[in-house]
Amino acid sequence: MYRTMRFLLVLSVAMAGLSAASYFVLNRLTRSWFEKDLRLRTDLAVSSARRSLTEAIRVEPSKLAFVLDDITHDERIMGAAACGLSGQTLAHTNAFPSEFSCTAVVARIRREGAEGNDYWSMVSAMPLGDVHLGAARLVDGEESLGWILLVHDLSSWSRRENTTGGILIGALFILALAAAVVTIFAARFSKRDWLVDLQRALAGDEPGEFQPLVRDVRALADRLASERETEVRAGPWNAERLRSALRHHLHGERIVVLANREPYIHQRLGSEITVQHPASGLVTALEPIMRACSGVWVAHGSGSADRETVDVKNHVRVPPGEESYVLRRVWLSEEEEDGYYYGFSNEGLWPLCHLAHARPIFGARDWEQYVSVNERFAEAVSEEVDSDDPIVLVQDYHFALAPRMIRKRLPRATILTFWHVPWPNAERIGICPWREELISGMLGSSILGFHTQQHCNNFIDSVDAFMESRIDRETRAVVQGSRRTLVRPYPISIEWPVRWVETQASVAECRMSVRRDLGLPADTLLGVGVDRLDYTKGVEERLAAVDELLTRHEGFRGRFVFVQLAAPSRTKIDRYRELNERVESLTTSINRKWGHEGYQPIVLLRSHHEPSSVFRYYRAADVCYVSSLHDGMNLVAKEFVAARDDEQGVLVLSQFTGAARELTEALIVNPYDLQQASEALAVALNMPAAEQRERMRSMRRLLAEFNVYRWAGRMLVDAAELRRRERMVGRLSAFRVT
Ligand code: F6P
Repeated sequence: MYRTMRFLLVLSVAMAGLSAASYFVLNRLTRSWFEKDLRLRTDLAVSSARRSLTEAIRVEPSKLAFVLDDITHDERIMGAAACGLSGQTLAHTNAFPSEFSCTAVVARIRREGAEGNDYWSMVSAMPLGDVHLGAARLVDGEESLGWILLVHDLSSWSRRENTTGGILIGALFILALAAAVVTIFAARFSKRDWLVDLQRALAGDEPGEFQPLVRDVRALADRLASERETEVRAGPWNAERLRSALRHHLHGERIVVLANREPYIHQRLGSEITVQHPASGLVTALEPIMRACSGVWVAHGSGSADRETVDVKNHVRVPPGEESYVLRRVWLSEEEEDGYYYGFSNEGLWPLCHLAHARPIFGARDWEQYVSVNERFAEAVSEEVDSDDPIVLVQDYHFALAPRMIRKRLPRATILTFWHVPWPNAERIGICPWREELISGMLGSSILGFHTQQHCNNFIDSVDAFMESRIDRETRAVVQGSRRTLVRPYPISIEWPVRWVETQASVAECRMSVRRDLGLPADTLLGVGVDRLDYTKGVEERLAAVDELLTRHEGFRGRFVFVQLAAPSRTKIDRYRELNERVESLTTSINRKWGHEGYQPIVLLRSHHEPSSVFRYYRAADVCYVSSLHDGMNLVAKEFVAARDDEQGVLVLSQFTGAARELTEALIVNPYDLQQASEALAVALNMPAAEQRERMRSMRRLLAEFNVYRWAGRMLVDAAELRRRERMVGRLSAFRVT
């Protein structure tokens, strides 16, 4: 009702304005027509009386008044006068207004430069209404005798003008009102009809024009309602909720994870066997899932004591002391490892997928090893499943071919493949000599997950460019024959709360102990970086940014120290060895430049650090700088936030990480821009505690909700839905009459 009133009000105001404008225009138009009409009348009156007027002026001036009286018999002519050329009054009728003396009128005609014209006129307001004064030249042959002035009464015309104006405004207003009412009714009725149609269509009564829209609306409404209901009912995502989702949606089926890196590496140190947690984002994310869901993790047994710790089936129950799931180790010869892991995976695919200016190397021998090792792992997976339609989680670029190989062995398996690194654009993928094989292998998956929508789009474009298939953009799927692969973004995360934080000392103690261990004064401002030593991590750019900070901000010299925890990685590859050397020499030169007795701005700790040690550094730091040149997600950024239950500390984060899309309260930088990055470090080190708290609190809230249980849960629920649909289709096709 209120909206209708408002509409009417706006319309009325608009129409009032329109009426006024129309009235004004119309009035001017009719007035000009009327004036033309008066001129004609004046000319007519003067020309029809010209002979009598001329004769009276020339011969009998006493008759002139009578002739003028004759002219004024027309009721609308109020009076008439005859004036000489120099303005003398020759005669006038009695009613001729005294305001228009011949002297004044002829003077005005001259003033206006109209003395050469045949006609002149003016409108004047008189006490009893407007009058029109027209002056027509009286000519006899070639000679001009003077002016005949005729005064017309305009009051009747003004009355008519006012009446017409009123009628016009009224008519326009009524018209506008009628139009508004018709519009409102038409809109109401058509909307009602539309809604009735839509409601009927939603209820499934009526196929027709709304059906495609209805299908989308219904699907969206169902999904939102069920998501909302589930979210509200189930509470936050955690290990328990993931377990129950698995029970509910997948009837507690055993999960088999295939990943190259094992979550626990047994290493022999003399007579001792130690257990190492590898520096790997993949392990950080997947391990809590396996703890929650149990099952089997199939991986390369890479530790020096791995063989000693498995049973005959190459199984070892992990985590040590908890034994909640099985680790199945697969053994690789040195040749296999060189070709599959160092060669094709890390000299080919890794630089192909990361935009870090390293040229990929594709060797045919490496490719052969990659194919055969993928087969070996696919075989190991098929040995570990306990049904013919198991759930298999294939992880990362080491296993692009495995999904199709597993599918060949287990056609009914639900295969979820997650690509932990970026997927570049189609043009870049196109340089790989085995691009079709890679994509085809991945399309053996039921669901293919990437960190971001951008990576999904890139993958779909690559399929479009290189494969025979149909892309169903509506359901975001690639269809090949009767098989479909859903391509979806699932941004990976970390467990929440992180178990490594629970066993940590307080932040104050961590600050103190780290500074003490490094031999630093207690008030040292501390920055931290945590990475595998990999050229994609931007470690050189990071150290250069510290150098720039000390150059631009004198106040931090002697007060700021950056600790880089650098886990050696893939050191068999030249590029990694060279990186090690470059990082070391850069550290030395920066320390030489700014260091002095008792002060070294960069502390490079080049060794493997166990998670509890890493978390102690996170808690001790004032700032954490993640400077990746390209990174699928980067879980170090998320771990730093998780470590700071004191809500202090600032994250400086590269814009080229997947994490930058989620952790928007970090200081986001371009790591190549050393000025910008060093300024961000300065801002971070000077940031007031309240602002640190606000930013950290908001990022922690986000991670608490979007944790790795949610990541896995969403993938598994999607997989369950797909499974249900596929089973249904399977049953239906069994009934098909052939
Ligand atoms: O980023 C993808 C990833 O698989 C991470 O899980 C891990 O950090 C790295 O790549 C693999 O490292 P590695 O070669 O040591 O297993």
